[in-house]
Amino acid sequence: MTMNASAILFFSLAVLGTLPVSSKAARAFFVFGDSLVDNGNNNYLATTARADAPPYGIDSPTRRPTGRFSNGLNVPDIISENLGSEPLMPYLSPELRGEKLLVGANFASAGVGILNDTGIQFVNIIRIWNQLHYFQQYQQRLSSLIGPEQTQSLVNQGLVLITLGGNDFVNNYYLVPYSLRSRQFTLPDYVTYLMSEYKKILAGLYELGARRVLVTGTGPLGCVPAELALRSRTGQCDPELNRASNLFNPQLIQVLNELNGQIGSDVFVSVNVYTMHMDFISDPQAYGFVTSKVACCGQGPYNGIGLCTVLSNVCPNRNIYAFWDAFHPTERANRMLVSQFMAGTTKYMSPMNLSTILAMDSRT
Ligand SMILES: *[C@@H]1O[C@H](CO)[C@@H](O)[C@H](O)[C@H]1NC(C)=O
Ligand SMILES: *[C@@H]1O[C@H](CO)[C@@H](O)[C@H](O)[C@H]1NC(C)=O
Repeated sequence: MTMNASAILFFSLAVLGTLPVSSKAARAFFVFGDSLVDNGNNNYLATTARADAPPYGIDSPTRRPTGRFSNGLNVPDIISENLGSEPLMPYLSPELRGEKLLVGANFASAGVGILNDTGIQFVNIIRIWNQLHYFQQYQQRLSSLIGPEQTQSLVNQGLVLITLGGNDFVNNYYLVPYSLRSRQFTLPDYVTYLMSEYKKILAGLYELGARRVLVTGTGPLGCVPAELALRSRTGQCDPELNRASNLFNPQLIQVLNELNGQIGSDVFVSVNVYTMHMDFISDPQAYGFVTSKVACCGQGPYNGIGLCTVLSNVCPNRNIYAFWDAFHPTERANRMLVSQFMAGTTKYMSPMNLSTILAMDSRT
């Protein structure tokens, strides 16, 4: 033992001194939800819901799979670009420690839904309540680095994104004919139930300190290549799954309005992904896509059957496809979505868009 107490104190101060918690640092960012926003947590879990094999990541800087369900970047990565910060690390990554914690963390896990029983076929995934538990654990870890007050202000000033709901339909209610949930609930009653559970999750985020939360609705679920392959003979979007989206999205906006009303502030911002997606589904050419029906990577009709693997067909130019695999957009489509997050009108972002939020919060 050669180190005395003052040396230890000196060294720990030196470590603290390297942590720049200035107001000029980009705001922290926290992500919750499913495969649309998972950037690699499932790589660390024993689950079949994973994107850690080629050709996933074919257009990423390393050209290697990262765990993102995309040919390259996903929505959180592009939001990070807009915040002027590094892409978030998956919370389960052992490299997420020290000052990297200041940037925030991504807690999302492919396969999860609002309900605990959604995605049970994927076995070992981070269900949403567990994601919230990890958020709490993250705050304890950060607190031991920068103290509880700095931690609280970093979290309060952070931006949060949550994407849930699609799997509660695709990987639960509609997973098999006569699913447990579809025998238990009519579709409208199921959506009501989802809303009551989602409201608790969002209130939980608020309790954990989230003060700016982007909440995405579902895209037009009946229009993804997987559903076209499974349910459509003519290539038209499946009306039943779109009915689910059309029940879910307006009720979600209502829940967000209720929560904002109770809090007395616009904490929750709704992101109308349905309309954003519908724009390039109804006129792909206007957005530079040759198709919005056929996935770039897959097999069978619309490349919508099964998984995207090294044996699949892969389109040579990912920039002209809206869908990368049977469910998930290409990086280019993700960029278009985020540009609407940033600058969209109230038709897309309500009550305000992300550039308005960033400008407003930087003034306070
Ligand atoms: C889901 O799981 C969480 C935590 O494990 C639990 O607190 C919650 O009550 C569960 N929800 C339902 C509807 O069972
Ligand atoms: C959204 O952002 C842009 C700036 O990029 C702004 O001009 C516009 O008014 C905003 N729209 C709404 C409805 O907030």
